Amino acid sequence: MNRKIAMVGLGYVGLPVAVAFGKTHPVVGFDIKAARIAELQAGKDSTGEVTAADLAQANIRYTDRIDDLKPCDFFIIAVPTPVDTGNKPDLSPLIGASTSVGKALKKGDVVVYESTVYPGATEEECIPVLEKHSGLKFGIDFTVGYSPERINPGDKEHTFTKIKKIVSGSDAATLDVVADVYGSVVTAGVHRASSIKVAEAAKVIENTQRDLNIALMNELSVVFKRMGIDTQEVLEAAGSKWNFLPFRPGLVGGHCIGVDPYYLTHQAEKLGYIPQVILAGRRINDNMGRFVARNTIKQMIAQGIDVARSRIGVLGVTFKENCPDTRNSKVVDIIRELQDYGVEVVVCDPQADAAEVHEEYDLVLGKVDAANPVDALIIAVAHSEYKALSPAELRAMVRGEKPVLIDVKCIQPRQALESVGFTVWRL
Ligand SMILES: NC(=O)c1ccc[n+]([C@@H]2O[C@H](COP(=O)([O-])OP(=O)(O)OC[C@H]3O[C@@H](n4cnc5c(N)ncnc54)[C@H](O)[C@@H]3O)[C@@H](O)[C@H]2O)c1
Repeated sequence: MNRKIAMVGLGYVGLPVAVAFGKTHPVVGFDIKAARIAELQAGKDSTGEVTAADLAQANIRYTDRIDDLKPCDFFIIAVPTPVDTGNKPDLSPLIGASTSVGKALKKGDVVVYESTVYPGATEEECIPVLEKHSGLKFGIDFTVGYSPERINPGDKEHTFTKIKKIVSGSDAATLDVVADVYGSVVTAGVHRASSIKVAEAAKVIENTQRDLNIALMNELSVVFKRMGIDTQEVLEAAGSKWNFLPFRPGLVGGHCIGVDPYYLTHQAEKLGYIPQVILAGRRINDNMGRFVARNTIKQMIAQGIDVARSRIGVLGVTFKENCPDTRNSKVVDIIRELQDYGVEVVVCDPQADAAEVHEEYDLVLGKVDAANPVDALIIAVAHSEYKALSPAELRAMVRGEKPVLIDVKCIQPRQALESVGFTVWRL
């Protein structure tokens, strides 16, 4: 591999990729966020994805100057692909990054997109921007690839180099280059997709499939509640069959699984087909926060707790366990619904950034313990700090004779919680 790599976008995805390449080759790491560049230059990664030791080992020049991209000839773009308030794809970061790269592009360069998009986005939306800002001709002067990212933030086992990488290119020679570049660091190997569109579609359906499987579990959970059956017990029993898939109900937040299906449905709608199953799954998953909140209130009323004067503790506000990312967290739906009931909600999270939570959601992180007890406790996120709490320690956080515990992620066995006096409700 003899390419000069530029990594554009140094977030949860871009930084680990830059570090993997930076361990063997000099890399230029570009981001528009000056604060991110400053912290990385100081050897710190606030996303928690890369250790200080790994950062120190990587030869990366962090920059927010487009001129610093010019010596590079292989550009990897991993910028956010969010949706707008109407759940339509917002390609502005992708267009912005393509504009920057376009200004640095030379003949013979390759641009690879890693951001999750709908099939067709790279060729229809990004290539014209590269052409416009470079003055070069796609296919003659420069070529393009797409290699979706499968990193799972917070997961220290399935890391960038250990996950098989899908690669694709706009022509056979480019595919060889892209496969060679990624193959030089990804020990799990590469899968050569037949086209850019196939690679784009593969990624978006990985997340859509997960979203739908969780939606099915969530719907089953809603149904089983009405039947008075414990969903976890049903899933344990059904899971004894060899081909029953081990999905669990839960909140689907973050900026991937709960967002990417909309990229697919948007494009399908543009082509005249309105997806039924995918959008139904999205609706179910988007309602689970309110469902948890309403059931918390019902449990409290059943225990005779004065809801209007109560305090409810919520443990965890990030969108998933062991990850500081709070974007699009569905725990916030629980909190907002509880606040609508007039309840005082105390939100805790040992991993979230308090300033970020305040800025994004206008919430102040608080404390729940024996000295600051609540009337009901919701364990919303299975952070390792919460998994380490014993039932007795949890019990000490809740005052009153009839404490309610909502174990959204089932982090403790029901019986263990009941044995210390909790009324337990879980998805
Ligand atoms: N985080 C995940 O779990 C995950 C997994 C697989 C794929 N993806 C996909 O990867 C892409 C990136 O996700 P992420 O989690 O790394 O996002 P992120 O928000 O953590 O990081 C994106 C970075 O890009 C920077 N950026 C934004 N606009 C830019 C521009 N015009 N030029 C340069 N930098 C710019 C931001 O400042 C930020 O540092 C998304 O498409 C996402 O769907 C994410």
